[in-house]
Amino acid sequence: MNDDLQRLQAAALVEIQQADSKIDLENLRVKYLGKAGAVSRLSENMRNVPKEDRPRIGKLLNEIRNAVTVALDSRLDALEAEGEVQNLSGVDETLPGTPFRAGGMHPLTLLQDRAVQIMRRLGFALADGPDIETEWYCFDALNTPENHPARNDSDTFYLPDGRLLRAHTSTVQIRTMVSNEPPVRVIGPGAAYRRDETDATHLNQFNQLEGLYVDRNVSVADLKGTLEYFVRELLGQEVETRLRPHFFPFTEPSFELDIRLPGIQEGKWMELLGCGMVNPAVFEAVNARRGDNAYDPEDWTGFAFGMGLERLAMSLFGLPDIRLLIENDQRFLAQFAT
Ligand code: PHE
Repeated sequence: MNDDLQRLQAAALVEIQQADSKIDLENLRVKYLGKAGAVSRLSENMRNVPKEDRPRIGKLLNEIRNAVTVALDSRLDALEAEGEVQNLSGVDETLPGTPFRAGGMHPLTLLQDRAVQIMRRLGFALADGPDIETEWYCFDALNTPENHPARNDSDTFYLPDGRLLRAHTSTVQIRTMVSNEPPVRVIGPGAAYRRDETDATHLNQFNQLEGLYVDRNVSVADLKGTLEYFVRELLGQEVETRLRPHFFPFTEPSFELDIRLPGIQEGKWMELLGCGMVNPAVFEAVNARRGDNAYDPEDWTGFAFGMGLERLAMSLFGLPDIRLLIENDQRFLAQFAT
């Protein structure tokens, strides 16, 4: 019995050492340690062993079981380690890795986010409205007469049902006032659509930023102070501004705000945004829709402004063609990634 056991252990260890796959190892585990395996069979033979030898043989059997278990485990470890080395063969770990390309914000998003943050610091809340609008929100409520050229279907995209793609974000002013009582202070970034031929300075979809402030006693001085602060925060303290009289149906008086910046567009004045004091006719249209007199022009005044983002981005970044902003060319966009 003693010799049988010694031989069994020696054979098992040799076989395990020679196994070269996990499946082989598993088969050996069954062969030696399984229920019907060699070690188990010998254990059952204990009946035939003389009583006085049993403790010694039992101990021996346990030792064999342990030795075989240890050998199986360590061979399994060795096989796994070999596998890993094999997986790496043919890989030159001294070559540089593939760089991780972190995304970046689009330049228009950067500009828009900065502009919105500045206005939020002044207490303006974010507002928005749908891109598909009714004529009422886009034109009528904004005091735009039936025969205004912007209402032509050569200028504005109309849907077959008579609705349209908003030609400006001033619709957000109306939506805000129809659903909120004064005072209001909102900033509304969003897309606007016009039937322009696409070229180096025109897109038929572009982005605007709309602002509206309605309260008691809001004056042109508030408009001027707020916009000058906004423009300095956005473009730097050295920017110069000027208000130029203009016309919009929905503001009275109306202005265009020009800016001048050293090193930008040869230091010439450039138009930045349209603005003005909310026309009382707009308040009346809103009241009529609300069915109350919440925006009584005797009590409330306000200013509004609308700024296009693409033209500003072109001037600031010196872009020769507005289409660069929509082509998503990585070589262009990567220059703005921070
Ligand atoms: N909606 C005007 C435009 O698209 C800009 C504007 C907004 C002017 C608000 C005055 C007040 O040109």
